[in-house]
Amino acid sequence: MKIIGTGSALPEKVVYNDMLTGFLDTSDSWITTRTGIQTRHLLSKETLSELAITSASAAIQSSGLQPSDIDYLICSNVANSYVTPSLSSIILSPLGCCCPCTDLNGACAGFLYALDIADAFISTHRAKNILIVAAEEPSRFCNWHERETSVLFGDGAGAVVVTEGNGFVDFRVTADTHTDVLYYKRSLETTPYDRVEEKTMPLVMQGREVFKLAVRACIKDVDTILEKNNLTGDDIDMYLLHQANLRIIDSIREHLGQPKEKFPTNLQKYGNTSSASILILIDELSREGLIPDQSTLLLSAFGGGFVTGAAITKWSKIEYNS
Ligand code: COA
Repeated sequence: MKIIGTGSALPEKVVYNDMLTGFLDTSDSWITTRTGIQTRHLLSKETLSELAITSASAAIQSSGLQPSDIDYLICSNVANSYVTPSLSSIILSPLGCCCPCTDLNGACAGFLYALDIADAFISTHRAKNILIVAAEEPSRFCNWHERETSVLFGDGAGAVVVTEGNGFVDFRVTADTHTDVLYYKRSLETTPYDRVEEKTMPLVMQGREVFKLAVRACIKDVDTILEKNNLTGDDIDMYLLHQANLRIIDSIREHLGQPKEKFPTNLQKYGNTSSASILILIDELSREGLIPDQSTLLLSAFGGGFVTGAAITKWSKIEYNS
């Protein structure tokens, strides 16, 4: 399997750290030094499905395929206004696609899970061209009176088209139950039989715990996938890591003893856009011509669950007709 098209879309509204100090006991310097984040884009006028469609259309267009050539659509999403139908169903026909579609919730590692599943479909010839879209609005599940969580996230969407080819070298996905460290709980309707009153709980996160789990798990994933493929850190040209916190990325980089240039970031501009983060990064780098043809990329992400995913791929340059 290989990536042949990319796209991304961000909300128009840009929120600077200073703009948060009006209603949160925080500061630009705290947010920047503890996370690296300077701004984030937040949904205001647009809807998440509009962002998903824009990013997916760009990915299809850059792939050179027609929407009718897509034979499976996978949407990575943690939560949106609809519980049903799925986000993939909502965007399918507006995109001009006519194929099976499904959503998956792999939290911030959802893109890696989607790639792993797409590879299984493609290598068994169940599908040839798969569209993967990650569209996330984490701003809608934070409590905006809680400085511990709300400053970290941004909204956005990213997409890739994958097809048969020999780009991807290997995948590693893991899961472990750690419900308490990171969760967002939505209340369900009550029934005459089960009267337990449920309450929606905005995102609850034990930041320090998540930080430690993330660094530990990513290092394990990266070391394992490198070793399994007889590679060392030096063999990787670029590490595209989940954009959650610059300090998490730095800890992984320091463990690997690799230079900063190999770890491009955009969390400074967008914050943590959950499973869309690596996709937005790939799209930006690829469109700017910053991913050399035939370079070796290592992708790695972690998210609530606790779930992680990593992949190694050889990159084939994509031509964009701007
Ligand atoms: N502004 C100002 N102060 C803040 C703050 C904010 N936005 N958020 C927390 N603080 C305060 C805390 O209350 C605490 O104060 P205290 O020392 O008086 O108790 C202090 O800053 C340190 O808090 P701590 O939680 O130890 O900071 P930290 O260095 O661990 O950074 C995170 C907090 C959340 C940035 C960091 O732990 C992190 O990034 N964790 C991973 C989160 C993540 O990636 N989640 C998504 C997973 S997909």
